[in-house]
Amino acid sequence: MTDAPTTAKDRGQPTIRVRNLVKRFGEQTVLNGINLDVYSGETMVIMGGSGSGKSTLLRHMIGSFQPDDGTVELFGQNICAMSEDELNETRKKFGILFQSGALFNSMTIGQNVALPLMEHTDLDPDIIAIQVKIKLELVGLREHAHKFPSQISGGMKKRAGLARALALDPRILFYDEPSAGLDPVTSAEIDQLIIALTRQLGVTSVVVTHEMDSAFTIADRMAMLDRGRMLVVNDRAFFEQLRDTPRDQADTLSVEQQLIRQFLRGDADGPLAARRNAGGYERDLLGLDDLPTFIHTPSIQTTRSSAAEAKVDTPDDADEVTEAQQSG
Ligand SMILES: Nc1ncnc2c1ncn2[C@@H]1O[C@H](COP(=O)(O)OP(=O)(O)O)[C@@H](O)[C@H]1O
Ligand SMILES: [Mg+2]
Repeated sequence: MTDAPTTAKDRGQPTIRVRNLVKRFGEQTVLNGINLDVYSGETMVIMGGSGSGKSTLLRHMIGSFQPDDGTVELFGQNICAMSEDELNETRKKFGILFQSGALFNSMTIGQNVALPLMEHTDLDPDIIAIQVKIKLELVGLREHAHKFPSQISGGMKKRAGLARALALDPRILFYDEPSAGLDPVTSAEIDQLIIALTRQLGVTSVVVTHEMDSAFTIADRMAMLDRGRMLVVNDRAFFEQLRDTPRDQADTLSVEQQLIRQFLRGDADGPLAARRNAGGYERDLLGLDDLPTFIHTPSIQTTRSSAAEAKVDTPDDADEVTEAQQSG
């Protein structure tokens, strides 16, 4: 968390500006008119159930997907209209940490971190070696530079991936499910590392997660996606208040707020259940057509313990490819 200014007036121009973003895969509209501003130095957490479009939105922000409609601006420039060369230039200004960490297994941790520096800079090997040490120190891995990915734990791989994402001193860091696949303690450590890096380096961070503990720990502001639509974007305190509203006061909330409250809490019972058979707006709002599934197996993880018990996500091939392209 940073002391990000809270009024739009103080914030100046957004570092990332998403406007009316639409993405279809065949018949399916995966992003349906998304708007989002992310300001310099803040940590924006994008939440939503599995399949709500979080990763797809992130991939538009890093220029790996072209939208069917709408724009993504980074640093005031529309990346959707950029040539591949221009996009590659812009890519040097941000780092990405995907679920897997996506390290190259044939290289040591140090070589993995050095790779972006060797490819994108003319720095001498000596200077690169120093840079690698600095980045590894930032994530607490300086002693492990000589090890191969197979020789370190999942949490350390995440840290190493983060060190590599930091290699070019990015102004923005994108994370897709940074705590996926980690035990609760390691996951909490990664959260603290994200907070510490944001403070130390002043980077702007965009974190996609369905893990609520993590979301509430690291966010300055939060955005909730549901079935390709942005339900609400607001300060963390807004969502905390909603989540912590006692059951007997939930009636005073609007229908939408009650639904989001239940979503944040992962409650099996509540207004969602009461409206199970309701039609119209509420039904549409949170995808109540899928409600029986949602009620019994919420796709949002409310606590670390439930995240630990649940089967963890495995990295998908697309992530590996995208990140490999980033660094190679
Ligand atoms: N490359 C793709 N081709 C076709 N469908 C896709 C592709 N990527 C994502 N989708 C679909 O888009 C929807 C949203 O996916 P995604 O953004 O990965 O969700 P989330 O990250 O929130 O779990 C899902 O229904 C998914 O199957
Ligand atoms: Mg995803």
